[in-house]
Amino acid sequence: MILSSEELASMFHLPNIRFNKYPRISWQNFKIAPAPPNIPKEGILLGHNIYRGEKEEIRLKREDRMRHFYVIGQTGTGKSSILQVMIRQDLENGDGLCVIDPHGSLIEDILPFIPRHRADDVIYFNPSDMERPMGLNLLEGDTWEEKELVAMDAMNIMIKLFNEEVFGPRIQDYFRNGCLTLMSDPAGGAITDIVRLFTDDDFAKLKRQHITNPVVASFWDHQMAKTGAREKQEMIPYFSAKFGQFVTNTMMRNIIGQAKSAFNFYDVMQNKKILLMNLSKGTVGEINSKLLGLIIVQKIQMATLRREKIKKSERSDFFLYIDEFQNYVTDSIESILSEARKYRLSLNIAHQYLAQISDQGGGKGGKGVDLKSAVFGNVGTMMCFKVGAQDAEEMAKEMAPVFSDQDLINIDKFKAVMKLSIDTQPSRPFSIIPVNPYTVEGDMEAAEAFKQLSRLKYGRDREFVDREILRRLGASGT
Ligand SMILES: Nc1ncnc2c1ncn2[C@@H]1O[C@H](COP(=O)(O)OP(=O)(O)O)[C@@H](O)[C@H]1O
Ligand SMILES: [Mg+2]
Repeated sequence: MILSSEELASMFHLPNIRFNKYPRISWQNFKIAPAPPNIPKEGILLGHNIYRGEKEEIRLKREDRMRHFYVIGQTGTGKSSILQVMIRQDLENGDGLCVIDPHGSLIEDILPFIPRHRADDVIYFNPSDMERPMGLNLLEGDTWEEKELVAMDAMNIMIKLFNEEVFGPRIQDYFRNGCLTLMSDPAGGAITDIVRLFTDDDFAKLKRQHITNPVVASFWDHQMAKTGAREKQEMIPYFSAKFGQFVTNTMMRNIIGQAKSAFNFYDVMQNKKILLMNLSKGTVGEINSKLLGLIIVQKIQMATLRREKIKKSERSDFFLYIDEFQNYVTDSIESILSEARKYRLSLNIAHQYLAQISDQGGGKGGKGVDLKSAVFGNVGTMMCFKVGAQDAEEMAKEMAPVFSDQDLINIDKFKAVMKLSIDTQPSRPFSIIPVNPYTVEGDMEAAEAFKQLSRLKYGRDREFVDREILRRLGASGT
């Protein structure tokens, strides 16, 4: 029979590395697979597939982005770079987005690429700018339902920060009721007031007046009233130890202690703002970075739910990018992942290795959903850069039958394999060389102007904030 070249190639192989040990041959030690035939022609450009000399664009459609984007890879392999490539296109397209960056470098890289005509959309949040702190108050809700949701989320955030053994059931109960009490005051309150609420009886009495909800009222009138002086004595150092650090740290106090957030998240999402959270762990401290990021994600999640009330066609697409996302999400991320599609919130998340997301235990309240299952079960598009041996085994299952664990271990830097959501269906896995964002230069002058404009618009004078918060804390007391 006469065979075609394809057929011949599959019958006849040059001996591979297993049999040919000749040292001078430079073997390709990972597989390259072609792009699927139905690759979309529209959407944002992620990179190229080069197979047998043919170069093809890899694009991700807007609809499919609502099924989220997940990227994993060892440090320095190109994760933040692919996020940057995507973000720049969103900026050009006039879309609304939020970037949570634990290093600060991604945001520095993005700023020079914001089109000048979008200057008014930029909110650059930089906690270390202590002269003009921007408020970020976790304890905000419009309706009682929202306030209950906030109190619950706030508690989950504390569990995430201090873990369940430290933040036990009794403290959770105090904390949740404390949050609801503070939010009952029409003047508002912040988590920095929690310590005082449980240590200063006069302050507690003052706040008690505003409570209308019977359950919270009963907490004070029965549970707290019965709590002996000794138990209170035990609680004070506990609360101080946990929350005291946010109160004594001027930077944090002046951000999370402001009664009103500097911007409204519903407005950010609906009016397509560019929210850049510079949460550099090195500059602001790890626990502070986590807390601020967790608050932002909570707020975006709540604003997302609030959009339920408006028509589908009126919900602006919003893109949330979280680098090292395992630090900034609680179990409630599952509902964003599974339902965000209808609320037009696209999640784009990156991290380094699987233990970061599978070591979370069974989740709160024995729901049994860990972060990893929530992500793997819901994410439409997955990109995998070079990973370690352990993760390769796991990721090879996702990229089967095309790639093996060896392919994922040996893949070159700045190259990846991926599974693309195409018209809501996951594609066959294939190879990709992501766009390199470091070939063009941005507008550094504009970057500086965006920062200045944003701090004037959303930051408040430090002295003013100091005074307001210290008054609420009863500065002379505690
Ligand atoms: N496609 C690329 N081509 C060449 N160099 C790149 C490419 N992508 C990233 N780099 C370089 O590698 C560094 C690390 O990339 P980065 O995306 O920050 O890695 P990660 O987020 O996975 O740790 C970047 O600072 C940049 O200098
Ligand atoms: Mg990175």
